[in-house]
Amino acid sequence: MNVIEYIQDGFLIIIQAIWAMLPAYLANPAAVLVGGGTPIDFGKNWRDGRRILGNGKTWRGLFGGAFLGMCIGFIQIGIVRFTNIKYLTDFSIPGSDFGFIGLLFTLSFGAMLGDAIKSFWKRRKGLERGQKSPYFIDSYDFMLGSWLLTMSFFWAWFWSTFSIWHLLSVAILTPALHRIVNIIGYKMGKKEEPW
Ligand code: CTP
Ligand code: MG
Repeated sequence: MNVIEYIQDGFLIIIQAIWAMLPAYLANPAAVLVGGGTPIDFGKNWRDGRRILGNGKTWRGLFGGAFLGMCIGFIQIGIVRFTNIKYLTDFSIPGSDFGFIGLLFTLSFGAMLGDAIKSFWKRRKGLERGQKSPYFIDSYDFMLGSWLLTMSFFWAWFWSTFSIWHLLSVAILTPALHRIVNIIGYKMGKKEEPW
């Protein structure tokens, strides 16, 4: 293989990885746009006297974000079927007509779940809503949530879609993408902090 072919392969891996992660990537900023209203913890405290999750995690954000992430997935399925592109996943599960719905749910809802679990952890550490967490956790919560939930239900799809190189690309690109999206959200006045 020559240098050009290596670059082409690397580029393709990155495109495939981002494509497969789009429903998860979209869920978080979508939650910022549609979130608000009743908090998931109904305003209740944990036994340490601090909020269980805090006012930044709402039911509307959780399900609205997950739903909009899934909608992006439906559009992606349409694009792949329409253009007949072979190298991007169409989120179909062999032998299961409606498996793609479950798959898009685990990808997208898993991201929101990871985000909520992170908030639980932040509150236990005494960090207020919106405060920055240490170690890039704010950038990786949704990626890990999405991977773990999807892996638990769609093991075969997961490992046939993501090679170790795809996972590595996602792990490297996610903090950068996350940062860019949050700065945009902050500038638009949708987000209170740029992280
Ligand atoms: N949001 C929501 N419901 C969710 C997730 C997010 O309503 N399940 C909305 C909230 O308005 C939240 C905003 O999206 O303030 C930004 O989300 P995020 O940065 O994850 O929350 P923070 O407010 O920073 O709170 P935390 O410290 O708990 O992460
Ligand atoms: Mg935040």
